[in-house]
Amino acid sequence: MLSTLTHLECSQCKKTHPHACLQNVCSCGKPLLARYDLAAARRTLTAKTLAARPANMWRYAEVLPGNPPVTLGEGMTPLLHARRAGAAVGLQNLYIKDEGLNPTGSFKARGLSAAVTQAKAYGAKALAIPTAGNAGGALAAYAAKADIPAVIVMPTDTPAANVMECRAFGAEVRHLDGLISDCGKYVAEHKEREGWFEVSTLKEPYRIEGKKTMGYELWEQCGGKLPDVIIYPTGGGVGLIGMCKAFGEMEDMGWIERERPRMVCVQAAGCAPIVTAFEKGSTSSEFWSHAVTMASGLRVPKALGDFIILRDLRASNGAAVTATDEEMLAAGRELASLEGVFAAPEGAATLVAARKLFAQGWIEPEETVVLFNTGTGYKYSEAWEAALKV
Ligand SMILES: Cc1ncc(COP(=O)(O)O)c(C=O)c1O
Ligand SMILES: [Zn+2]
Repeated sequence: MLSTLTHLECSQCKKTHPHACLQNVCSCGKPLLARYDLAAARRTLTAKTLAARPANMWRYAEVLPGNPPVTLGEGMTPLLHARRAGAAVGLQNLYIKDEGLNPTGSFKARGLSAAVTQAKAYGAKALAIPTAGNAGGALAAYAAKADIPAVIVMPTDTPAANVMECRAFGAEVRHLDGLISDCGKYVAEHKEREGWFEVSTLKEPYRIEGKKTMGYELWEQCGGKLPDVIIYPTGGGVGLIGMCKAFGEMEDMGWIERERPRMVCVQAAGCAPIVTAFEKGSTSSEFWSHAVTMASGLRVPKALGDFIILRDLRASNGAAVTATDEEMLAAGRELASLEGVFAAPEGAATLVAARKLFAQGWIEPEETVVLFNTGTGYKYSEAWEAALKV
């Protein structure tokens, strides 16, 4: 067994919890983080051993849970040198990490692969998730693979492709006339009675573990170092938190020094609680009323892990910016026509952020900048129809 998982630790009060059972949040209500014996992990997790391992996220076995993976081949997505889009912005070293190539077409596959692996190992009878869309599709697929029933609770205005995929995977879809926060409340209120294990964002510890592998991959794909800037479309913030966690583990294993990529959170102008809190200097965010954006993954009015996102952004000397829907649609067309990447609006938002930060002088022309295209545009036919009308 390669996994060196030792226990779970509260992200706030630091209380420890056992890992070999179903776990949600700490008794204080805050997210739990998986902790490893990194002194042991570093002995076998090396560039040399990695070279012989399969090209999926489970290659980082020492720093992932050790149960038999429920996998569809997620991870090791391409890091593309975006020369033409870079030139359009003024950046020589602009890259796109294309997460749209994961199973079910988004980076949510990573987190749900890890979460369903653990839920299966510890006997969950049914899984439930509130979702803006892509996480629901991913849960439905991994639950099908694991032979566990899944209930997906999503807003009525979720992109049609997300609804279809969940049904195709055999999950039960429940629609609510509201936002993901209302869906979250619904799951929390019904889970006991209905016997669901809740896999909501940050309400179980392993979605972070799956998503942190994006950080490990970047290190490998950048030739044993990390980029100067990472731009990430932030809803619940799991990928950002996960990558920062990965960088901490990598430092503890001696892979990197103290220096970190500057993390950039981009949110929709119509729902920007983290950007507002960042600008105000607050340590947590306020609930964003009347959230509107067609980037459904960014329609998150309040993230459970807001205090961790804000802490991580500041610790990395990062930034937080907004993109309007019109800007996202235009940037999506640029990524498609200049780079051959058919992005989700959330992914396109990262190009908007790169351009704004370059114009402000916050990014230098020769710096290495990675944009995360978190999902495929193929699931956003409604948004793309609007984009192509212009
Ligand atoms: C395509 C896409 N990008 C970004 C996000 C936001 O992800 P996170 O919760 O990691 O911030 C989502 C979430 O639904 C998404 O579907
Ligand atoms: Zn706690």
